[in-house]
Amino acid sequence: MPFDTELTRRLGIKVPIVQGGMQYVGYAELAAAVSNAGGLGILTALTQPTPDDLRKEIQKTRTMTKNPFGVNITLLPTLQPPDYGAYAQAVIDEGIKIVETAGNSPGPVITKLKKAGVIILHKCTTIRHAQSAIKLGVDFLSIDGFECAGHVGESDITNFILLSKARQTLKVPFIASGGFADGQGLAAALCLGAEGINMGTRFMCTVEAPIHQKIKEEIVKAQETDTALVMRRWTNTTRLYRNKVTDAVIKIERDSKTGEFAEIAPYVSGKRGRQVFTNGDPDYGVWTAGQVIGLIHDIPTCDVLVKRIEKEAEETLTSKLKLAKPKLSLHPAIGQPALRNKLSLYPSPEDYLLPYRLALQLIAFPNRPHGNALSILAVPLKEHDLVSPPRLLIIVVVIRPLVPPLAQQDELPRQREPRGLR
Ligand SMILES: Cc1cc2nc3c(=O)[nH]c(=O)nc-3n(C[C@H](O)[C@H](O)[C@H](O)COP(=O)(O)O)c2cc1C
Repeated sequence: MPFDTELTRRLGIKVPIVQGGMQYVGYAELAAAVSNAGGLGILTALTQPTPDDLRKEIQKTRTMTKNPFGVNITLLPTLQPPDYGAYAQAVIDEGIKIVETAGNSPGPVITKLKKAGVIILHKCTTIRHAQSAIKLGVDFLSIDGFECAGHVGESDITNFILLSKARQTLKVPFIASGGFADGQGLAAALCLGAEGINMGTRFMCTVEAPIHQKIKEEIVKAQETDTALVMRRWTNTTRLYRNKVTDAVIKIERDSKTGEFAEIAPYVSGKRGRQVFTNGDPDYGVWTAGQVIGLIHDIPTCDVLVKRIEKEAEETLTSKLKLAKPKLSLHPAIGQPALRNKLSLYPSPEDYLLPYRLALQLIAFPNRPHGNALSILAVPLKEHDLVSPPRLLIIVVVIRPLVPPLAQQDELPRQREPRGLR
């Protein structure tokens, strides 16, 4: 079943799966592979040292896929902020139509991109931030739960709550991010109201992810308990793979008398983290991973992964739908011997219950539109071959004498329109 959601329609992709921006992972090889597989691949702008390098990476990606792909622009608090405007301009000049934004004060960048007609997916970890982003005109929210990799925010709300809250409160479509690795997750996200999912850690562990094989094998070995939260003391909480370096950072964070960020700065340096991906030593520096790491057991190609997730989601939704049998309680009258006799031509209570109720409705509420009842009952009636008018007529005639008092009980209170409205 090809999924058809607001996300697939607006972005022109086949499968409602986005590969989130990933520093030092989101290069052309990965983004193109995800887009070729039918999802949305995303280049990470700041992985490129300059806006010109980003232009080249975009051009390279174009040679590797004909499908839509996007660019992530992450605005994080740093002492020397990059020229975000110049990165955004490179994106616009290169004709990119989809951008994932994340981080602090994205207003100016979003405004600039929106003016150029770019579709914005904005990632956030709270409903409050989502509401602010909506005011800036973003097209989709990417709701990042507490289980996600990287910057989890400070409110620690997991996706089970966050997604339903998004469904209840947001007027803009959203995708679910953080904690997704399989089709069961995609099916659940769709059921909770999302238009698709965003995955980071799962895509790190694919053949095309341009990181050292040993790190991918480390991910396969890891459990869901193998992540650590650091930098809460500086209101910049980040979920990382738990290793010797994060243990050292946590100790300093807990014990430091001064609380100077400089004390941990050498440990959380992006430079050392980047080298983890090239030298394959998981303890060399800090690197980002989400709790979903415990659900990852292989290193497939992006094509295999995306197709598998799509298939699992379809199978999950189909099989769970079968659980939703109509649960009609037996009317007390069915317990009466006379009625039970007449209905005994049907093999089981469930079988006769459906036509019984339909007949009841037709007799008791002749003036009501029965379209809904008919359409709900059409499938089971057809399944049991009970839909033929002569049979229905027999049921109506047989049940009619027994019905009037029961019909009164069964009738739902009708809403009266105030006088004078018509
Ligand atoms: C190695 C790595 C680097 C990441 N870097 C960024 C980044 O630079 N900007 C960003 O917005 N998100 C970044 N993320 C977060 C992902 O885009 C995505 O939101 C997150 O991984 C979702 O959670 P999951 O890992 O449970 O799927 C990174 C994630 C990982 C695993």
